[in-house]
Amino acid sequence: MGYVPGVLTPKPRGTLSDALFEAMRTDSSSWDGVLGIEPDHDDDAQIALWTLYELHYRGFDDVDEALEWQPELLQVRQVLEQPFEARLRERYDAPDVTTPFAEVFFDYVANHDGRSLAAFVHREADADQVRELLSVRSIYHLKESDPSAWLVPRLSTAPQAALMELQYDEYGAGDPNRLHAHLFARGLEACGLRSGYGAYIDDVPCEVLEQNNAMSMFGLHRRLRGAALGHLAAFEATSSMPSRRMVQGLDRLGFPAEIIGYYEEHVEADAVHEQLAVRVVCNSLLDAEPALADDVYFGAFTCLDLEDRFAGAMLEGWAA
Ligand SMILES: [Fe+2]
Ligand SMILES: [Fe+2]
Repeated sequence: MGYVPGVLTPKPRGTLSDALFEAMRTDSSSWDGVLGIEPDHDDDAQIALWTLYELHYRGFDDVDEALEWQPELLQVRQVLEQPFEARLRERYDAPDVTTPFAEVFFDYVANHDGRSLAAFVHREADADQVRELLSVRSIYHLKESDPSAWLVPRLSTAPQAALMELQYDEYGAGDPNRLHAHLFARGLEACGLRSGYGAYIDDVPCEVLEQNNAMSMFGLHRRLRGAALGHLAAFEATSSMPSRRMVQGLDRLGFPAEIIGYYEEHVEADAVHEQLAVRVVCNSLLDAEPALADDVYFGAFTCLDLEDRFAGAMLEGWAA
């Protein structure tokens, strides 16, 4: 498994994505028709941005891979990124103090009051709701650690070594069968769901696109390395306990061992990863570059805030 051929551009969600995907597929010699088109709404903007970012990951079978660095496409991407980043920064609620870093950071994450999908799965969700959740989460889980991999060459010695220790686990510690994205793919298959990369992209709500796009934006811009690592640290720090609740909920509903195994792996692994990400990766980053403290918290807030909005959208959809 791993790379699954046959990934095509998603369904457009508005005027911009419609014109953009058509131009990408036909390798338009004139890009004028795409530049300057305003997105109809957030959904249109976010699916366009997600598709542009994918040129840097797996690409699409119906798009020439040479377009990855097409200047007009980078221009469209920038026009979409600027208001997106500004909106995320407007929502950001900074901590009063930022040191001592690890203690303040763990408190900041613990005090963020968000809705929990894992708690709902644990006690209340039915099997169809869980299957829907797994399918929309697949957009993230099938590329789990890839947005953090962009960070590696941008760091100094100590945070670089710690990030690689964490990533080594995420990528299976040398064993393709232990690679987290692959474990999730096997879990999807055992549930009778599609495991192809991006297979559910046309079904996901805008909140899922925002979560994935924020990670790609933080990962792909060197200037946002603080936000990328803060996001990673907040993600790891809010994974172990919810993963346990997912295990209990999946078990309650009789889901297959493969998908339960994915979450069991994260109960153990992320209890270690949160310590590594906060106490070593971010801490040593800030030792080397203290001016990045606010961006680390901005990234952490964005992770928690987007997850809260995603959870809210799913729970409202289920009228839960
Ligand atoms: Fe993982
Ligand atoms: Fe992890």
